[in-house]
Amino acid sequence: VGEPKRTTRSPYMEFAKTGIVDVPFPLTSSGLESIDLARFPVLLEDLTADLTGDPALSVPGNYGYEPVQEALALHTGADPACIVPAGGASMSNHLAMAAVLTQPGDQVLIESPSYPLLFDTARYLLTDVHSFDREPVDYSVDPDRISAVIEGRMRGAERLRRLRLIVLTNLHNPSSALLDSETLREIGEIAERHGARVLVDETYLAAMLENTPRSAFFLGPTFITTNSLTKVYGLSGLRCGWILAQPALARQIWQMVDLFDVNPPHIAQRLSVVALRELARGEDSAIRRNARELLCRNIELLNRFLSSRDDLCVRLHSHGTTSFPRLTRGTAGELVALAERRGTSITDGRFFEAPEHFRIGIGARSDVVEEGLARLGDALDELAKLNVSSRSAH
Ligand SMILES: Cc1ncc(COP(=O)(O)O)c(C=O)c1O
Repeated sequence: VGEPKRTTRSPYMEFAKTGIVDVPFPLTSSGLESIDLARFPVLLEDLTADLTGDPALSVPGNYGYEPVQEALALHTGADPACIVPAGGASMSNHLAMAAVLTQPGDQVLIESPSYPLLFDTARYLLTDVHSFDREPVDYSVDPDRISAVIEGRMRGAERLRRLRLIVLTNLHNPSSALLDSETLREIGEIAERHGARVLVDETYLAAMLENTPRSAFFLGPTFITTNSLTKVYGLSGLRCGWILAQPALARQIWQMVDLFDVNPPHIAQRLSVVALRELARGEDSAIRRNARELLCRNIELLNRFLSSRDDLCVRLHSHGTTSFPRLTRGTAGELVALAERRGTSITDGRFFEAPEHFRIGIGARSDVVEEGLARLGDALDELAKLNVSSRSAH
């Protein structure tokens, strides 16, 4: 058993930033299209005098800018003492992990498949990373599988002795599966028995649109959650993310903030307050309404497409921004190339350690999604033909 090796890059993020071929009908994004700045409901007064009446571009950098803390408290239902804002869910995950995983060799258990940055960040922190499998097809979590990994029954590996953190996404990236609170509670109990915590990345939870459960943070002190306004509302550029944690841990996370970026850009804080106040209008929020309408339309388009295919193994879609079908023939790598030649794009399942799967994102405009799915259908037909002819050639 060697020393853990530090990860210093993220192949997935490099792909997301530079590897996606520019196509007219992309289905790669896991988030909704950015809203136009012209449609962002900001008034000049919001920027020239903050909500405490301070006209300065810079404010004292304390632990929390009050208007943001209050707006996030209203948005999440959590006490401001439990809220640490951060640059997107990305920095939120990083800070939360850094505060909990303080010793090299601390053990982390992460769902698989999962968002690759969760693994990369844990490895950057020199932790000893293990994974447990979600169930195939519906991507639910069986808490017994988690216990089995911890007890070392699965591979006869040594029991996890310094388990500090179990990490999940809810909704699940890439499949959008929802974890119910009963399952989360069971996972919390397992973590507690081993003196560990549970980190739930809830970046996509608001993509439930209806009957959105409360954050897992409210299930008990074992839970830490991360979230942002990035994916579901087309507000990625604000980098408005946050962590919910018990006050003592929140204070430790604030100390991590001091090590990493000290203070966020103040202008982004003011814009985040504007966005959070708009979202607080509930049914009257135009940002919320647009997101819901777009996703409802696109889920219908996706389901029409999925129902028309007998070469994909996947459940029909009921919520969320991404679907993760398994191909019954061919590989996702082949499909990616065929799709790109037809002007659409999907994400190769190899980034999620599932090369027979691919991820479809439905956050683009409905006309783009509709045409992208039509072209993806053509690419799948072509893949079927190629696989028939290559089989008959052997
Ligand atoms: C599960 C998950 N967490 C976090 C992030 C990062 O979100 P943000 O843009 O808010 O940093 C992503 C982005 O794809 C994600 O899929």
